[in-house]
Amino acid sequence: MVLHREPLSAEAVRAAIADVPFIREVVYLPATGSTNDVAHRLASQGAPHATLIVTDDQTAGRGRIGRAWYMPPRAALAMSLLVRPDLAARHANRLTMLASLAAAEGVERATGLAVRLKWPNDVVVEIGDWRLEVGGRAAGHTSGVKKVGGILTETSILGDAIEYAVVGIGLNVNVDFAGQPELAETATSIMLQLRREVDRLSVLAAVVDRFAKRYEWLSKGDALRATWSARLVTLQRYVEARVGDSVLSGWAEAVDDDGALLLRAGDGIVHRLLAADVTLREP
Ligand code: BTN
Repeated sequence: MVLHREPLSAEAVRAAIADVPFIREVVYLPATGSTNDVAHRLASQGAPHATLIVTDDQTAGRGRIGRAWYMPPRAALAMSLLVRPDLAARHANRLTMLASLAAAEGVERATGLAVRLKWPNDVVVEIGDWRLEVGGRAAGHTSGVKKVGGILTETSILGDAIEYAVVGIGLNVNVDFAGQPELAETATSIMLQLRREVDRLSVLAAVVDRFAKRYEWLSKGDALRATWSARLVTLQRYVEARVGDSVLSGWAEAVDDDGALLLRAGDGIVHRLLAADVTLREP
């Protein structure tokens, strides 16, 4: 068991995933800029499919849309999976669906914390449930979410195919956001939710195991969509989606087999969004 602030090691990671034959190589780095960058470097040097890169101290972690990813040393999980899938480039988003599903299932199995997903790549927990009343009458209900993790998938495309993909997974395991009031408004950790420290290795092993078990679903978009969308807090909600400088508001109706969000705007037109920054709103 590896608790708060204790470092991991290559041997400990290998032992924890010994019964996940999917993983062919493990690279552990006590500290590095970004595990995704390491994975790209290894990919260009010919590293095999299913190489796992893990660090204890990610000093330049990257999130979506060029954002920084905060990770205090030895308190969280930062890992990247380098995979060489037999998958058309147009299905690349399925890797993020797969990884976020694996992250949610792995955290639940390892810790018991109920985890949901927020489109397109957030691993979240529901932190409240408010019934809205107008003039004493029920007028709907909403729930708040906070982020416990995120996925950053980056692909190298050759023609119509994916040459390789780097699937980065960040999980706030034992992170205490006390010194980070701005982040604490939208982020939390497994430890803060459960009010106890959690063994990072067992979370890592469970997430990697779920990723391996679900991997074949990359070619079964329907099964992946059904299981993934059942965890989405975003659906059947009124949302605001920012794409670049434009904002689109509407009803999040569904997702398709490639994870695109089908958003019905006020004029009835359904927009297919592949990437956006989505906020849950009241109509
Ligand atoms: C997001 O929510 O915006 C995605 C966050 C992804 C963070 C992980 S941590 C491991 C990997 N390395 C990175 O630099 N980013 C990803």
